[in-house]
Amino acid sequence: MASIPALLAERIQAVSVLDPELRPATRPQFGHYQSNVALRLAALAKDGADEAGERPEWVAAGMAPRQIAEALVERVDLSDLTEPLEVAGPGFINIRVRSSVLATVVTEQLADIHAGIAQTSEPARVVVDYSAPNVAKPMHVGNLRSTIIGDCLVRVLRAVGDTVIPQNHIGDWGTQFGMLVEQILFEGIDASTLTLATSVELYQRAQQHFRSDEAFAEAARRRVVALQSGDEQTRAIWKSLIDVSKAGFNAAYARLGVLLTDDDLAGESIYNDALPKVATDLEAAGIAVIDQGALCVFIPGDDAPLIIRKSDGGYGYAATDLAAIRHRVDDLAARRLVYVVGSPQAHHFHQVFAVARMAGWLPDGVSAEHVGFGSVLGPDGKMFKTRDGKAVTLDTLLDAAEEVAAPDIAMAAVKYADLSNALHKDYVFDIDRMVATTGDTGPYLQYAHARVNQILRKAAAEGDVVDDATATITVLAEPAEQELALLLTRFSDTVAEVADGLQPHKLCGYLFEVATTLSSFYEKCPVLKAEGEVRRSRLVLCRATQRVLATGLDLLGIVAPERM
Ligand code: ARG
Repeated sequence: MASIPALLAERIQAVSVLDPELRPATRPQFGHYQSNVALRLAALAKDGADEAGERPEWVAAGMAPRQIAEALVERVDLSDLTEPLEVAGPGFINIRVRSSVLATVVTEQLADIHAGIAQTSEPARVVVDYSAPNVAKPMHVGNLRSTIIGDCLVRVLRAVGDTVIPQNHIGDWGTQFGMLVEQILFEGIDASTLTLATSVELYQRAQQHFRSDEAFAEAARRRVVALQSGDEQTRAIWKSLIDVSKAGFNAAYARLGVLLTDDDLAGESIYNDALPKVATDLEAAGIAVIDQGALCVFIPGDDAPLIIRKSDGGYGYAATDLAAIRHRVDDLAARRLVYVVGSPQAHHFHQVFAVARMAGWLPDGVSAEHVGFGSVLGPDGKMFKTRDGKAVTLDTLLDAAEEVAAPDIAMAAVKYADLSNALHKDYVFDIDRMVATTGDTGPYLQYAHARVNQILRKAAAEGDVVDDATATITVLAEPAEQELALLLTRFSDTVAEVADGLQPHKLCGYLFEVATTLSSFYEKCPVLKAEGEVRRSRLVLCRATQRVLATGLDLLGIVAPERM
């Protein structure tokens, strides 16, 4: 069955011409959905207001909104889906879905292998670029947020039927490797014995050395050339550095429980050979020009040029991202490119996408979206730092959470805090609030899941097992039951909205509403103490709710525990 509001909207629009723009009712006494279409039609019925000719012929000039609403209600037949429509206030139309329809939709949703999540009619190949830590550097909070948000988006896009290609654009190339390799040779260490942590220390020593010793700096610069021209010894050490970092990244991914694997690695280095062609193609097309020795693109309306090739001949971050776009569109056949990278890089992506469009590398019909996000702040409202003043790494954050809660709960707390705010906002890392089992938190949702699971477990112990394929809701008389059922029917639309707009907090907000509505349902409607059909129906409703919570939490990358 299609989504209920979509069905209602389609039938109303056949009469109203304008989209009824159904909204969930703000209060239960207004029904389930509301439309202000009569007010918008009345505005068109004013003299000369209907230039676009959108007004249906039955709306006469000068009709009042309420009159239009009443006439509309007369003309639309929704009796199989809703209670009689009501006109309220200045002309709002209130819609109450029949409880039998809610019961049917929730029953179907429970039997559906996708938990009712509608599969997209046009599956797309989508690249999601996320996580992207840098070799020989600790994973910073930006990489952590990117990993958590990207993981959620991958899960959501897959859930609606898209083919998702994760791309972990790790920083495994650049002039810093000249310095690192040179320091390894200088110290005479076996690179394969390094760890992510010791290579981070090595990086610091190398930087120090580079600054204080001109002969070393010169050797490091020559080492960059050796790396680029494929010198065997240099490449071998570079390769060890990457392997060491990869092992560190994978340990973090395992700890986070995210989907990324080595198959998703597509680091900056793989684009190295494609960079000269990026430059020559842009120059040949007249898009890039030499300015003060550098090859630049001046984007209309933008003050700063995008630098494709520096005056020393080196290519940087932007050229690599342009090469990556060509690869993703031409070789991976992606039609949607999603970049989950902190908001400070918004301008970079704005420029890269603009240049790719100018060059025709992002043709019409291929979208590129930067999903930016804010910073994590400490309780003082400033950039989050550890007690000794260092920038916070992934591990320090997770350790802080695990100090106060079991690992699954700590992880839920961190992930939910990351996903439940609008992405562009900074948020305060307040661990005590984040792990609380009350309020809008991950652990609260886990608790709601565990609690409904406990009811089902008790019922099963008494012989009442809910079979998803055959169980039906037959009684749905109480408002609290209806409200819960109505909310469950919105699951699919919520997931679709996140797949479309890439805003995980909408799914969090929805699941939080499910959990609170479930809790008022328990208060008003006993389940285990009820009898006969009422008890059976409530158990099915509980199971359907559990399924939505479990599926929804899984889409957030959060474990749904059986007990808590
Ligand atoms: N390595 C970069 C960083 O840590 C992020 C890379 C994001 N992806 C991209 N295609 N530029 O800031």
